[in-house]
Amino acid sequence: MNSVKRCRHSRTRGLPTLLAGALTLALTLTGGPATAAQQGTLHELAAAQGKYFGSATDNSELPDAAYTAVLGSEFGQITPGNSMKWDTTEPVQGQFNFAKGDVITDFAAQHGQSVRGHTLVWHSQLPSWVGALPPAEVEAAMTHHVTEEAAHYRGKVTAWDVVNEPFNEDGTFRTSPFHTAMGTDYIATALRAAHAADPDAELYLNDYNIEGLGAKSDAMYALVSELLDEGVPLDGVGMQAHLAVQYGFPYQMQANMQRFADLGLDVAVTELDVRMQLPADAAKIATQSTYYRQVVEACLAVERCVGITVWDYTDKYSWVPSTFPGQGAANLYEENLLPKPAYYAVRTALGGEGGPGEGGGPGALRAQYRSSDSSTGDNQIKPGLQLVNTGGTAVSLSDVTVRYWFTADNGASRYSTWCDWSPIGCSSVTHRVAALGTPKAGADHYLEVGFTGGSLAPGAATGEIQLRLNKSDWSNFDESDDYSHGTGTSYADASKITVYVGGEPVWGIEP
Ligand code: XIL
Repeated sequence: MNSVKRCRHSRTRGLPTLLAGALTLALTLTGGPATAAQQGTLHELAAAQGKYFGSATDNSELPDAAYTAVLGSEFGQITPGNSMKWDTTEPVQGQFNFAKGDVITDFAAQHGQSVRGHTLVWHSQLPSWVGALPPAEVEAAMTHHVTEEAAHYRGKVTAWDVVNEPFNEDGTFRTSPFHTAMGTDYIATALRAAHAADPDAELYLNDYNIEGLGAKSDAMYALVSELLDEGVPLDGVGMQAHLAVQYGFPYQMQANMQRFADLGLDVAVTELDVRMQLPADAAKIATQSTYYRQVVEACLAVERCVGITVWDYTDKYSWVPSTFPGQGAANLYEENLLPKPAYYAVRTALGGEGGPGEGGGPGALRAQYRSSDSSTGDNQIKPGLQLVNTGGTAVSLSDVTVRYWFTADNGASRYSTWCDWSPIGCSSVTHRVAALGTPKAGADHYLEVGFTGGSLAPGAATGEIQLRLNKSDWSNFDESDDYSHGTGTSYADASKITVYVGGEPVWGIEP
């Protein structure tokens, strides 16, 4: 049973790949700065390594067109966050409703994505009627549920989390109506029922805190070893990977994955996110990027790690803030759907731009900008700036300068410049205005930003640097024609802000 069927996961998609190729060419011809689009999507990068890269999603998120645009293009696999769970699919005994799950499989089909079914047997999000059954009736109810659901999605899901979260933290079996009624046999019974209903689906056991070596993963290892010995149909182990910056990285994740692989099982990272105590700061963001990168590296190093699914890709739809009060910022994209440093860390780890072995140095710095100033005609200019290191090596900030280009619009030629706030500390940020000998369109001056020290680790960002400048006579500017000026109010890559390392341009286009 646990034979090699991995290719269905890691297939590349024909037409989107061709379109991405055309897009790459267009961007190259216009000579813009390197962007994510030039290098293919996360899934394309993963697929080039024989893996998939996926995301959880949920029905309530699908009306959000900006969200689905990224979901449908960047990811090659999706997992329904809720709509295939028992409380949704069989809320009343014997009354099945697959409407919401069908919306998810339809989306996947339209976007050339595979689907992980999640989940058939779980103690949580279980309708109360199951727990109220006499124990003697639970096995029949469970088998019926598994059979109906797995049969319904036959051919539409490539893998099932058949049993979810069977263990307590100490490696003992978790109490549930299933365990109470059948003891640990419920797991083999559920796997056999799923296999009978959909012989082609890859069948997984899935749990959290089994990513590293430890008591809980030892328990999973013992369980799956026994199931395989007994000839129970089982293809893989799902490691949820709900990580947190404050709890450290799982102990020896790669070695742990490898021991399951050595049993002849596939391994999947099924629900990756990396939360932190809010507010976020530069150190937490850097740690988060490191954790995401380390998960990718572990999966790449283990041949039978088939892919990675993030538990939704954006902070906008994260389960974290409501489940872990005070925590958040766990995902690859922020709430406005802009990629965060962790996204670039994942790209780099997948072999994308700036990856190890490609230099990965200062050339991978990028400037992001937002306008903190809705008034383009007043006497101050207020750019918000952040630098992101998308490369594989640290960048020493004392070598870095940044230029924001603007026109003075007459008035005094002397300036005051300010750093109002930054998580890296304004005391480490230098700023001055310089005039151009030969004015350009949209620019006869620039604000130059530098740093007294510090360094930016691979995948790390400075966090925002709130800048401000005015003329000494406080006369007004007309910012609307300024070269570097933009109107976006959230951070986005800014090709008209230029970045230099040791005086050499590394990002952006000068006026
Ligand atoms: C979460 C969903 O994301 C939430 O929307 C829901 O309210 C609770 O469940 N482990 C799992 C997932 O296996 O099913 C959980 O999903 C997150 C933890």
